[in-house]
Amino acid sequence: MKVLLTGGCGYIGSHVAVVLMSAGHEVVIVDDLSNSHRDVVGRIADIAGQLPVFYQGDVGDVALVRDVIRRHQIDSVIHLAGFKSVGESVQLPLKYYQNNVCGTLGLLQAMEAESVPRLVFSSSATIYGDPQYLPVDEAHPQRVINAYGRSKLHIEGMLQDISASRPSLGVVCLRYFNPVGAHGSGLIGEYPRGTPNNLMPYVVQVASGEREVLNVFGGDYPTPDGTGVRDYIHVMDLAEGHLAALNFLSSNSGWHAFNLGTGRGFSVLEMIRAFEKESGHTVPYRITARREGDVACSYADVQAAARGLNWKATRALEDMCSSAWRFQSRLSTGGRSPAD
Ligand code: WQD
Repeated sequence: MKVLLTGGCGYIGSHVAVVLMSAGHEVVIVDDLSNSHRDVVGRIADIAGQLPVFYQGDVGDVALVRDVIRRHQIDSVIHLAGFKSVGESVQLPLKYYQNNVCGTLGLLQAMEAESVPRLVFSSSATIYGDPQYLPVDEAHPQRVINAYGRSKLHIEGMLQDISASRPSLGVVCLRYFNPVGAHGSGLIGEYPRGTPNNLMPYVVQVASGEREVLNVFGGDYPTPDGTGVRDYIHVMDLAEGHLAALNFLSSNSGWHAFNLGTGRGFSVLEMIRAFEKESGHTVPYRITARREGDVACSYADVQAAARGLNWKATRALEDMCSSAWRFQSRLSTGGRSPAD
C-alpha cells in the first residue's frame, strides 16, 4: 500500500514507518517537527534500507495534504500527528483542540476530497478515564478527565459519523496503553523535548546521570506496592499493531476500535527494578505526592485485537527496558542524535 504517515518523525511514528517499510509498503511522512527531529528520517532509512518521502508541514493544511495524496497516489492514512501531554492539555486545552481536533478535521477533508478509503487513527486508553473495572475492554465507559483524552474522543466520534456517511471507508482507532522501549538497533527511540512527562524517558535520564532522582508520584495507591500500575507495551509491538490494522482494512470497511496493550500491569517500582537489572545502573528515587489526574491501576483487555486483528504483544518488560537503555546509550556516546 501507499501510506501517508502523519507524525512519522515522532516516537511512535518512526517505529511504525520502519515496520511498514520492512513489510514492503511505501511510506510518505508529513510532520511539522513540533515535537520531533528531521534527523529521524535518515535513521528510519538506516534501518529500513530506503528513504521515506518526507514533507515538513501541518496535517491540517488541506491543500498540502491533497497534493501529497495525489502526487503519491496515497491509498491509506495512518494518523499519529498530535500533541500528547496530559498535563499540558489541562493547562492549554485550546492548544490541544486546535492542533489535535482541527488538524484532524483538515486531514479528513483532504482524504474525502481525494477519496482515500482507509484510515488508522492513533487513539488512547486515556479516553476511558479512571477504570471502573479491570482489565479495561473496548466497551468500558469513556469518562475523559483531561483535554488530551477528550480530543481523542472527539476525533473518534468524528470518525464514527464520517464512517456512517461513507460506508466504503474503513477506519480503525487504536487505543494505546503505555508505549515504551525502542527499536533494537538503538537508532530510534523516545526522545522528548524538554522535561519528560512520562515514566520511562525520565527513568532513562536518571540512570544515565542526566537527572539526579526520579520522583515516584504516590506510594499509597491501592496496589501491591502502593505505586501506580500501568500496561506498558513495547513500541515495536505497538508498531506491528498498526501493520495488523492496515491489513485488517484491506478486507474490512466500517468503524472499529481496538486496545493495544499487553493485558498485564506493572508498578512503578517494578519498572525501576527491571530497568536497573537490564541497564546495570541504579535509579535513585523518592516517593512524592500523587500527580493530579493519575489513576491507580490500568491495564488492557486484549482479546478484541487478538481476534479482530490477529495481533498480540509478544515482547517482555526486560526487552522494553534494555532497548530503551540501548537507545539512550547511543545518544550519550555521541551516536547519531536528533538534530535540535
Ligand atoms: C506512568 C506511571 C505515574 C512519571 C500517559 C498519558 C498519555 C498516554 C500514556 C498516549 C504513573 C508514574 C510517571 C514520573 C512517576 N500516551 N510516574 N514519575 O500517565 O499512565 O499515561 O502516557 O496516549 O501520554 O496518558 O503515563 O508514563 O506519565 O505514568 O511516578 O516522573 O508512572 O504516576 O503511575 P500515564 P506516565
